[in-house]
Amino acid sequence: MKLFDVYPVNDITITKAQGSTVWDDQGNPYLDLYGGHAVISIGHTHPHYVQRLTDQLNKVGFYSNSIHIPLQQQLAEKLGKVSGKEDYQLFLVNSGAEANENALKLASFYNGKKKIIAFKKAFHGRTSLAVAATDNPKIVAPVNETDNVVFLPWEDLAALEAAFDKYEVSSVIIEGIQGVGGINVASAAFLQKIRSLCDQHNAVFIADSVQCGYGRSGKFFSHDHAGVDADIYTMAKGMGNGFPIGGIIIAPKFRPSYGMLGTTFGGNHLACAAALAVLEVIEKENLIANAENVGNYLMDELRKFPEVKEVRGKGLMIGIELPEELAHVRKELLFKYRIFTGEAKPNVIRLLPSLALTKDQADQFLTAFKQALKPVHA
Ligand SMILES: Cc1ncc(COP(=O)(O)O)c(C=O)c1O
Repeated sequence: MKLFDVYPVNDITITKAQGSTVWDDQGNPYLDLYGGHAVISIGHTHPHYVQRLTDQLNKVGFYSNSIHIPLQQQLAEKLGKVSGKEDYQLFLVNSGAEANENALKLASFYNGKKKIIAFKKAFHGRTSLAVAATDNPKIVAPVNETDNVVFLPWEDLAALEAAFDKYEVSSVIIEGIQGVGGINVASAAFLQKIRSLCDQHNAVFIADSVQCGYGRSGKFFSHDHAGVDADIYTMAKGMGNGFPIGGIIIAPKFRPSYGMLGTTFGGNHLACAAALAVLEVIEKENLIANAENVGNYLMDELRKFPEVKEVRGKGLMIGIELPEELAHVRKELLFKYRIFTGEAKPNVIRLLPSLALTKDQADQFLTAFKQALKPVHA
């Protein structure tokens, strides 16, 4: 059987990983500033994480949501404490798309309305409603097309007000920092406007924190920078440091009922153990503060390069926009300097490293980046 060939891959096979370093099958080390797409939050194969998962696997790996799973309550308590949203309720799923799917559905159950406001360049996942709220027609199949989603321009407060006047809005879904869209940071004024319009119109504010959440921005949720509380936060990626787990946290005003939401795998023993290990390490090693400090350092240094058009982001979610003639730099970083980074169109290098990235590793990147830019001066 062949694989269904949907991924354009780099010709590299990783066989070992530790912290922010991965090794290929020839034994070559690479600095990982991509984290497998913002997934590696506490570092590869962190000893506490490995131990907790191993111990759990030796006890019970999986049972369904038809019995008590005390790890879920422990996770809810820990997540409430670390995120500061202690009065919210947790529902566990398996991926980012599934988290958004459930958030959009729950919003509609809550207020009985249908219209969803999403934004230009948004990415919310590939399942039916999540992909319909994603601004990329190429990945929306005819069966996913719906009139229930309206796309508005980013940061356009007047368009937002007009949409609330025109439609019966069920929910507004927004990444605090757009990831796939090229690292675009939502301003505090924009997020505050969404909050107040949602309050006025009984609409639900959904904070997609799948990529920009879990401490990456220097606060637990990137929306926290605006000083507003969303009604539902969606999470995945960094939550399990590579173990598939997602979740939504839900404000107290939402009342659950049996059967309203559900999943076979969501919240299983192993996934909860992974997520608990991640939060324990984030707390013990002060990784949110580290993300802020090392991120600020990186952004300050990157802004000094005259070749760079713009540096955007917060904490360790950084976009480096380069001019067209430097489109080769990302590949060069990977194949010449052995540094993994992410990309976004048209020509943005995305840095999404572990929150435990050190200043020395940041310097290692800056040195290589400087070299990779060089041909421009030749
Ligand atoms: C902001 C955002 N939301 C949702 C998703 C979808 O997550 P998943 O691939 O786990 O379904 C992604 C994935 O990149 C994302 O960046």
